[in-house]
Order: sequence, then C-alpha cells, then structure tokens
Amino acid sequence: MTFDFGVWLQAGSARAETALDLRLDSAQLLPQRLHEAMRYAAQGGGKRIRPLLVFAAGELGKSKPEVLDAAAAAIEMIHAYSLVHDDLPCMDDDDLRRGRPTVHKAFDEATALLVGDALQTKAFEVLVATKGTAEMRLSLIGELSKASGSLGMAGGQAIDLESVGQKIDLTALKQMHAMKTGALLSCAVRMGAIAAELDATALTQLTQYSTALGLAFQVVDDVLDATADSQTLGKTAGKDAADDKPTYVTLMGLEYAQNQAKELQAHALDSLASFGPKADALRALARLVVERTH
Ligand code: IPE
Ligand code: IPE
Ligand code: MG
Ligand code: MG
Ligand code: MG
Repeated sequence: MTFDFGVWLQAGSARAETALDLRLDSAQLLPQRLHEAMRYAAQGGGKRIRPLLVFAAGELGKSKPEVLDAAAAAIEMIHAYSLVHDDLPCMDDDDLRRGRPTVHKAFDEATALLVGDALQTKAFEVLVATKGTAEMRLSLIGELSKASGSLGMAGGQAIDLESVGQKIDLTALKQMHAMKTGALLSCAVRMGAIAAELDATALTQLTQYSTALGLAFQVVDDVLDATADSQTLGKTAGKDAADDKPTYVTLMGLEYAQNQAKELQAHALDSLASFGPKADALRALARLVVERTH
C-alpha cells in the first residue's frame, strides 16, 4: 500500500493537539490568568512540525505511544515559549503570531515572560512523568535541555539579537540559524529516535537528516518573511528587512536562499536512503518544510 501523507498529517496534527491539551494545566487552576495565557501561547494554530517529526521518527522503531506523545508535547511547549519570548518588545517586538495578537499584546509583558518560564519548566515536568525507563527519560531530558539552552535555541537567539544591523558572513549566519531554529527541529527527530530505541548508526543518519532539515526550516522562514504577506503567514511579513536582521535573503539574495533550501532538502532526503518505506513520513515532512507557504 502506498503511503498517504495527507491522512498521516491529519492524524498526526490531531494527535499533537491532544497530547498538548492533556498535559497543559487547566485554565481553571490558580493562577488562572497565567494558565490561560500558557494555553493561548501553546494552542490555537501552529503547524506542529516538531511534534510531527517526533511521531515520524518514532515510527522507525518500537516506541511507546505515550512516550512519543510526551516528547511531542514537551518540545512544542519549548517551541511555544521561544515564540512568546521572540515576540517581546525587547526581542523582535511583534504584535501578530499565528494570526492572533501575541501573548504580550493579548495579556501583558510580565505575563508573557512568565508564560515562557512556566512552559519551559512544564516541558521537563512532562518528560519526567512519562512512562519510559528512567534511562530513556533522562536521555530525552538531556536532548531537550541541550537543544533549548545557550548552545542551542537560546544561544542562537542571543546571536540573532547581537547581529541586528551587523554584517555577518555566511558561516556565522548558518551557525546562528542552526542554533536558534535547527537545534530544536533536530532535537525533535532525535527524541523520536531515542523513544524508538534506534541504534547509533540510525541515530547518526537521522541527525544528518534533521540538521539539514533544521537549517532548511529557517532558510524558508527567511524566504517567506520576504515573499509572503502577513495574512498568509499569520505573523508580520517583511519584518527581517525592516529590523535590519541578517538573513539568508538579506545576505545572499532570494534566489540563493531558495536554491539553498532545495539543496538542504535533497541532503535531508539522501540521509534517509537506508530506511526504506518506514521513513516515508520523514521524507514527506522534509518536502513540506521546504515547500510550505506559511
Ligand atoms: C516559527 O516556527 C519560528 C521559527 C523557528 C522559524 P514555526 O514556523 O514552526 O511556527 P508555528 O509553530 O507553525 O507557528
Ligand atoms: C525565531 O526566528 C526563532 C526562534 C527561536 C523563536 P524568527 O524571529 O525569524 O521567527 P519568526 O519569524 O518571528 O517566527
Ligand atoms: Mg527572532
Ligand atoms: Mg521573530
Ligand atoms: Mg522569521
């Protein structure tokens, strides 16, 4: 039977929503406003690419569904927190996210700060509480903490802010993108692979796939910022050029950026050569990341 990505995507997206909903605290709990804002940040839109990558990698082995759900929810919580902070006035100062006012606009700045803090710690609480062995949970926690911290997402965000108005070279740009965005996307695939108990060789091949995919994701984000409109994006278009941010488009031009995304996609697909049809969802996700319109 041929793989139907449309069906897979619909099921995976619904699964991601449920996994999050079950693990976020109720907005009825005190402090209600904070819990409401955490749900606002994590729910209501979002492509759920990171959870989908967890599920797709998890399918390559003998993963427990509950562990994959926990890993998917945890990484999406970190991602949602990163967006809330990214939008704050002290960072990108954005009013629009996923087609709605950003958290600091819908609530207030202090709440947005606390939403980020609390989503981040919630992610680890979720991993501690899941069913896997202690060794597996520790390994998942290690992956997610490293990818989120100063050597991953937060570090990349620091470089992003330092680079405003600066002329950086392509190597530095690549490093920044790999950290601020690539690290979490790569982590999603590795968490799925760890839950699936794959061997070291498979993990290395998947890391090659996810590193290429992770960089491609931010290259495409840069392209879309320059080419799509705010309504389609659900966030402010043209923001990078307006803020004088070095991106693949502002530094290398649109055509180079588009070709680079395609090259990275090809590299990601090549890295899956030994996996056979079980990796079809990962293949389709690599195409989706590069061919997406928002
Ligand atoms: C946007 O991520 C921020 C980047 C890391 C480029 P997504 O494009 O995955 O955002 P959502 O979750 O779908 O809103
Ligand atoms: C943000 O990159 C990456 C994060 C770690 C959140 P951008 O600043 O380009 O993301 P958008 O375009 O606001 O979603
Ligand atoms: Mg930013
Ligand atoms: Mg931003
Ligand atoms: Mg962007």
